[in-house]
Amino acid sequence: MSGDFTASGSKNGALAIIAASLLVEGEVVLRRVPHIKDIFTMLDILRYLGVRAELSEDGTLQIDASNIVRNEAPAEMVKKMRASFSVLGPLLARTGRARVAVPGGCDIGARPIDLHLKGIHALGALVRNDYGHVEAKASRLRGARIYLDFPSAGATQQIMMAACLSEGTTVIEQAACEPEITDLAWFLRKCGARIEGAGTGTIQVQGVRRLTGVEHEIIPDRVEVGTFALAAANTRGDIFIRNAVPEHCSAVLQKMREIGATVDEDAAGLRVTANRRFIATDIVTMPFPGFPTDLQQPMGAVLTTADGTSIITEKVYEHRFRYLNELKRMGADVYTENRVAVIRGVPYLQGAQVTATDLRAGAALAIAALAAEGVTEISDVEHIQRGYENFEDKLRALGASVLSGEALPCSQ
Ligand code: EPZ
Repeated sequence: MSGDFTASGSKNGALAIIAASLLVEGEVVLRRVPHIKDIFTMLDILRYLGVRAELSEDGTLQIDASNIVRNEAPAEMVKKMRASFSVLGPLLARTGRARVAVPGGCDIGARPIDLHLKGIHALGALVRNDYGHVEAKASRLRGARIYLDFPSAGATQQIMMAACLSEGTTVIEQAACEPEITDLAWFLRKCGARIEGAGTGTIQVQGVRRLTGVEHEIIPDRVEVGTFALAAANTRGDIFIRNAVPEHCSAVLQKMREIGATVDEDAAGLRVTANRRFIATDIVTMPFPGFPTDLQQPMGAVLTTADGTSIITEKVYEHRFRYLNELKRMGADVYTENRVAVIRGVPYLQGAQVTATDLRAGAALAIAALAAEGVTEISDVEHIQRGYENFEDKLRALGASVLSGEALPCSQ
């Protein structure tokens, strides 16, 4: 694969900021919002709550949450996508009541919400969790000191959003530091919130009475950047990624250098090239700035044909290795035990019929298919379309031959 590539706006960053727009009285204009199913699902929930939301072809999203008419996010919507649960805090803080269906687990783990509920309860809400829904009430939330047992991105976002309209000061300890948290805080501060420390392990929020509308551009999707960088390296290609933010994906870029890819950074973006077999390495997924769990699967696909044995330890989710069973069908030599995968490099993978079990697993299979001998057919690609904007077209634009909706033949 070769050529120029521009990443879309961050799926996870946009989802959080769209939920945060519920806090704002007045119009919010977001730019570089990706056209993907998860975004459409979140917009459907906001419209159900009475919010005006219009997404244009160029990725400009206009949201006006001045008149919220409902306090409930129904199960059939929330079950489609876990991130919908992040409307709980903003809806509660804005209206005094919120009832949101409990998000289900998914293929990568149980995905609990205990830290979300711990935070909302600490802010003074009456919280009930029954009949598959969480209902929270509070005439006005009050600031609190909240320790997160795990630096959960979702729980950090949920609590930070709710704290913006709480009375007094909230301190979140062992907060998540992902770039999407920092960008959410920057958006909220532009709306008038008083937040310090976003991007560090301790975030302090001083509550205010109201937030007002602003314009904001969503940060580039660091997981998409990493996905396409790994795809280029796996096909011994040469791509230039225009709007990458290197410090948002430094762990992945460093590990790519360790296995033998060349990654050059400059003010304009990232150049990724590779022209040799890779060397095995070990990966341990951690909260940011550690190696991101969302790129564990794409990296695993690349390591299946590296010289030597790689060990992947998945420390964020309980089971995020199902994709390896699919890669075994393509000839990969892998062994998993709980949260550890052992990958012994083989000379090459062979095309086969495989199934995408989740969003990033689908991307991993595509990366493997692009360098495999023969044709690979990936089914359940709707998982990929949930989180990557124009995935197949972007691959084609870099030289991959992708038969949309049919076999995904290999190509160099
Ligand atoms: C966000 O999920 C992302 N999703 C995930 O991306 C990403 O993998 C994850 O952060 C970690 O970076 C969105 O932003 C929409 P977490 P989130 O809360 O917030 C434990 C993708 O592919 N935990 O940080 O749900 C949990 O069990 C998706 O784009 C609790 O124990 O992740 C897990 O081990 C997949 N209690 C760990 O935290 C809680 O209340 C990570 O979860 C919440 C989480």
